[in-house]
Amino acid sequence: MTERTIPKKPAPAPDFTALIAGVRLRNPVIAASGTFGYAREYEGLLDIAGLGGICTKGLTLAARPGNQGRRLHETPSGLMNSIGLENPGIPAFIERELPRLRTLGPAVIANLSGSTVEEYVEGARLLDASEVDMIELNISCPNVKAGGMAFGLDSAAAASVTGPVRKAAPHKPLMVKLSPNAPDLAAVARSCVNAGADALSLVNTFKALAIDIRARKPVFGNISAGLSGPAIRPIAVRMVWELWEVVKVPLVGMGGIACAEDALEFLLAGAVAVQVGSATFAHPPAMTEIIAGIGEYMKEQDLHCLGELSIR
Ligand SMILES: Cc1cc2nc3c(=O)[nH]c(=O)nc-3n(C[C@H](O)[C@H](O)[C@H](O)COP(=O)(O)O)c2cc1C
Repeated sequence: MTERTIPKKPAPAPDFTALIAGVRLRNPVIAASGTFGYAREYEGLLDIAGLGGICTKGLTLAARPGNQGRRLHETPSGLMNSIGLENPGIPAFIERELPRLRTLGPAVIANLSGSTVEEYVEGARLLDASEVDMIELNISCPNVKAGGMAFGLDSAAAASVTGPVRKAAPHKPLMVKLSPNAPDLAAVARSCVNAGADALSLVNTFKALAIDIRARKPVFGNISAGLSGPAIRPIAVRMVWELWEVVKVPLVGMGGIACAEDALEFLLAGAVAVQVGSATFAHPPAMTEIIAGIGEYMKEQDLHCLGELSIR
């Protein structure tokens, strides 16, 4: 009798989807705010449809021109920026950018910024009535004179904006983006969740300073600027690890992710998804490669879904 070999069924592809506050992403990789514009500049440079999500540039109620002078400065393993929230304003974003963003495939996350609570609230109201999938409340921008990071440095200030924004946008999941510059990040995180945040993203940039020794003055007109890139990654991973013990809402990790291994560190530390920023400037297909690399790792480790990946 001849022996018959039963053909082996190919292993099913791992379930790559990530769930953040009711929004299901096709995979856990999101373009970070301010580093992907409204996706126009990247057409043809990477598989945009294959991304899990796109966070818009920080949006304010009225258009802003951003900061004068130098806006970017590279450091070893890092990037400093002082863009100052240049954006067309929320009404123009909704009218001109959002309809096209919606057709691309990834979830659309609006990064909401402002100088006063009233400005945040009015912006939140407009976004609540729009087609965005989620609001990322930015209380962590270090490059504006009023508002921005000032709201993210202590728990009372963070609640003073998160609570009213939550009320103004009852239909959208609300993710609050935290500042690593807060002296007590755990207290700020708890306060945001108590005020209604459905998820937290971290980290925004670290307040930093570069001096032009020839000109004998600071490189940036605003003196300080925000540091991102690989230099901050181990600190950001540590912050995700610690916050996982403090709050029970989903955490979205970022800071210096440049390859799949970097993203996996955040996912293992307890993040449900990651954002990639500065790496896209240096290497536009970075996110596409990161998505593929996470898939390879899951197969290699025999993991069937992202939930099995976390070690927390
Ligand atoms: C040029 C530039 C502009 C940014 N603009 C914003 C912004 O508008 N809103 C925001 O929340 N974060 C902004 N960020 C912060 C990033 O979204 C991200 O939190 C940070 O850069 C850390 O990630 P990375 O090291 O992968 O870049 C910006 C970062 C850079 C480099």
